[in-house]
Amino acid sequence: MEEISLNNLPKHIAVIMDGNGRWAKSRGALRIFGHQNGIKAVRETVEACAELGVGYLTLYTFSTENWGRPKMEVDGIMDLLVKTIGDEVPRLHKNNVQLKCIGDMDALPEKARRNMEKGIDTTKNNTGLVLNIALSYSGKWDIIQATRKLASAVKSGEMTPEEIDEEQFSRLLSTYPAPEVDLLIRTGGDHRISNYLLWQSAYAELLFLDVLWPDFRKSHLLDAVRAFQTRDRRFGKTHD
Ligand code: FPP
Repeated sequence: MEEISLNNLPKHIAVIMDGNGRWAKSRGALRIFGHQNGIKAVRETVEACAELGVGYLTLYTFSTENWGRPKMEVDGIMDLLVKTIGDEVPRLHKNNVQLKCIGDMDALPEKARRNMEKGIDTTKNNTGLVLNIALSYSGKWDIIQATRKLASAVKSGEMTPEEIDEEQFSRLLSTYPAPEVDLLIRTGGDHRISNYLLWQSAYAELLFLDVLWPDFRKSHLLDAVRAFQTRDRRFGKTHD
């Protein structure tokens, strides 16, 4: 922690929590066992970000494409979500964390949606870390839902096509008012973005780790932030 410069923190960290299935398989267990064991990693990541003073943490918890997994796994993840949100909200609230959800909430089972809405309402006035849980989310979904809103605004005459710019578009993305992602971490060894925060990661620093998500600990997050602080971010410009 002492090696981290607090005036160069990533404002927004996004995580693709991959590797739960392989973690379970290597123990001869069902995939859901891996998801259950991913909760400790979520807790440690949230705690580390809150302690450091990171503004926004966005966790890829369930993608639009994940609906295509076997029903048993999907139901297991949804039940786990209901239980975890119920168990964790008091602690999040105590730590001044504001819980939010990005994604197509309407696609969630009623119980998961209601639980999430309750957690969002309980923590809505908190001023610390903003924790975005991406559920039934994909980057393309987000871009399309924003585009639909823009198209409606143009159709109704509220704005002209010429008024559409990056600023206007960003305001309609589900992550608003979070700034763009500074650091995107993917565990599990694969090197891809998997339809995550496509617009928001335009200039994110990417970090791909071999560690499987259930093994991810606070020390990995701190190492990731240290690695981020060694990167030379030019945003397409030069330093001279
Ligand atoms: C990817 O691993 C993981 C998921 C699709 C689910 C992640 C969900 C959790 C860790 C629960 C989190 C809960 C909250 C409240 C944030 P995978 O199944 O694709 O693993 P594999 O690549 O090894 O098959």
